[in-house]
Amino acid sequence: MLPNKVKIVEVGARDGLQNEQKVSTQDKVNLINQLAQSGVSYIEAGAFVSPKWVPQMADSAEVINALSVDSVELSALTPNLKGAQAALDAGIKEFAIFTAASEAFCQKNINCSIDESIERFKPVMALAKAHNIKVRGYVSCVLGCPYQGHVEYADVLRVSQALLALGCYEVSLGDTIGVGTPGKVTELLSLLKQHIPTQQLAVHFHDTYGQALANIYAALMQGISTVDSAVAGLGGCPYAQGASGNVATEDVVYLLQGLGIECGIDLERLARAGWLICDALNKAPLSRVSNALRSK
Ligand code: HMG
Ligand code: MG
Repeated sequence: MLPNKVKIVEVGARDGLQNEQKVSTQDKVNLINQLAQSGVSYIEAGAFVSPKWVPQMADSAEVINALSVDSVELSALTPNLKGAQAALDAGIKEFAIFTAASEAFCQKNINCSIDESIERFKPVMALAKAHNIKVRGYVSCVLGCPYQGHVEYADVLRVSQALLALGCYEVSLGDTIGVGTPGKVTELLSLLKQHIPTQQLAVHFHDTYGQALANIYAALMQGISTVDSAVAGLGGCPYAQGASGNVATEDVVYLLQGLGIECGIDLERLARAGWLICDALNKAPLSRVSNALRSK
């Protein structure tokens, strides 16, 4: 059964811009302000990761400090206590911790094993609890890994449960390299739903093989009502060679509108936000809907 309402988690300013050429702090601030004005209610605004690993996110604190978007929930990636403390100091009210269902990817992405990542998150969770901060969890490579290939659904379940046991309110399932297909999404979610309430699951699909929208439809049919996406289909993951950006938010909003599912976003304003950041990046949006609207 399809949900009546879907929450979009807009990750363009983080997942998108972490894997594009560097843009100015002001460009990021403008993007987030425009996303908020288009009605997006939840924005991942940056990442408190090592600037040596991901230089594009080095100004996350400055970006967050320059924002005045009270109506929006803002979150940021916090891989460890150092990152969480920096996010807290910047005024972030929601952390996102991230690990993987694939050992190989976990090592390449955050330089530790899956079990070590869970240990690293314990002090992050303690800091969050002490400051009344919600924490979202990510599991990467749920439908395939750029290094080890096949990933067992049982590993996705185990890692998702570990994040929820730590105190995450929701787990976002990342198809990091965009290799999934609707049949696989349905199989994975059918298994996870036997153990985890659907309200605690979100989907985060990259669009490398052009399957992301179909995968989202399959997830909606499984009752999932939180979808991550990036305006203009920006970005990718720096530790997953060849992976393209997330599914474009414009395309998701158009799909939802067509299904009569509410998401609170004004498509035209959203598209304009995408055009502006794409102009700053000197590229065209990777969104069919955005390009169709622009050529009208
Ligand atoms: P490490 O080298 O193992 O960390 O990196 P360390 O604790 O040994 O510290 C080494 C240096 O990094 C030290 O500095 C620390 O102070 C510094 P030095 O003494 O050499 O000058 N450091 C930090 N600096 C700033 N912020 C921090 C921080 N922590 C340590 N938080 C670490 C471990 C996790 C930091 C590193 O591996 C890292 O930053 N990785 C970034 C990974 C990343 O951002 N990946 C992309 C996001 S995940 C993603 O895109 C997937 C997702 O979208 C879902 C999906 O699609 O699947 C979420
Ligand atoms: Mg991602």
